Amino acid sequence: MSVGNIIVGQSGGPTSVINASLAGVFKTALDRGSNKIYGMLNGISGLLNNRYVDLTDKIKNNLDVELLKRTPSSFLGSCRFKLPEISADEKTYENIISILKKLEISHFFYIGGNDSMDTIKKLSEYAKIKNIDINFMGVPKTIDNDLAVTDHTPGFGSAAKYIGTTVKEVIRDGLVYDTKNVTVIEIMGRNAGWLTSAAALAKGDDCEGVDMIYLPEVAFDLDKFIEKSVQIQKEKNNFVIAVSEGIKTADGTYVCELSNSDRFTDSFGHKALSGTASFLADKLAAELGCKTRSVEFSTLQRCGSHIASQTDITEAFLAGGQAVKAAFDGETGKVVIFDRISNDPYLMTTRVADVNDIANVEKVVPAEWITNEGTYVSDELVNYMLPLIQGELPPYMVNGLPKHITVNDIK
Ligand code: F6P
Repeated sequence: MSVGNIIVGQSGGPTSVINASLAGVFKTALDRGSNKIYGMLNGISGLLNNRYVDLTDKIKNNLDVELLKRTPSSFLGSCRFKLPEISADEKTYENIISILKKLEISHFFYIGGNDSMDTIKKLSEYAKIKNIDINFMGVPKTIDNDLAVTDHTPGFGSAAKYIGTTVKEVIRDGLVYDTKNVTVIEIMGRNAGWLTSAAALAKGDDCEGVDMIYLPEVAFDLDKFIEKSVQIQKEKNNFVIAVSEGIKTADGTYVCELSNSDRFTDSFGHKALSGTASFLADKLAAELGCKTRSVEFSTLQRCGSHIASQTDITEAFLAGGQAVKAAFDGETGKVVIFDRISNDPYLMTTRVADVNDIANVEKVVPAEWITNEGTYVSDELVNYMLPLIQGELPPYMVNGLPKHITVNDIK
């Protein structure tokens, strides 16, 4: 199949390196003779409203490509938009295909996590049913690291590096007083504890680390949490705990819902999760009778590109490039994934996997990597993460601040 025009979109929660994948798609498509390169604005939701840009107008030279690699969040904007089932609403698919045909698109790339891969799954399925000559390819990303099949996802390494770094800094601050004091840190990751595990990276020769790590993979018991905190405070005045935003009690209630059950739910059925640390810090203040503080890393952990991992940026760029190569070679309905050949030295390779094995599937932390009755993580998990956080690619600093590249058409 010949290469015509291509289109690329970004979807789901942003990361520090999702634009490096966009740069990988852009640069590789350009180098391999693609005609026009379009970018969807706000993903598939924007495309449905005919919102796209000609990317060659926005990324003009190699300096722009380098800036893009160093610019956090989704350059093209994002969406959380679930396509309907094909049988329920063919019209939506007809609309998308007619826009793609108008733009003479031969290859379609979507950079996203397991929800976003649902879009690649459905569009490639529809194209197959209707015999439409467009290739649909997924490029992985998510700080949650919860994509099935792949060893890890671009975005995770940089968020983990941010967490390891910032947890160290919070610990330095949290242990200064000679009076009792507890800090509870809340980390993203939804129903998977990979990112919260990165709090363990803080521990080393120069840092005592956090005392407890709570992951969503283990049912949360408030009484046991308080009991353990009381025990720890008998030995030291000050300590720090890391909790995942997605921890749940045995009956499936998110801990953040215990204080406020009125939660926004997106089109994939995901509840907005935040407030876990502040709920637990308040509980501990009441039970321990001391000062407590909650720190919610929130969006900071996924846009801290000033401390992004070079390994992660390189791999994110590579994932974009490999998606283009595979699609131009005729693959469709696939996602680029990483296989780890060895950990030390770190050797990794890529291949493509069937989108049906990845879309809508959540990969969680294996039970054998969770220790101390569900309150810490194993050295194996730390060793798994370490190669992914190596190296730095510092921002270009202008007037003392990082320089970013932006599209001005995002709504
Ligand atoms: O999926 C990535 C992620 O950052 C999760 O860790 C988090 O729960 C979610 O996105 C937040 O989504 P939003 O930015 O749409 O609120």
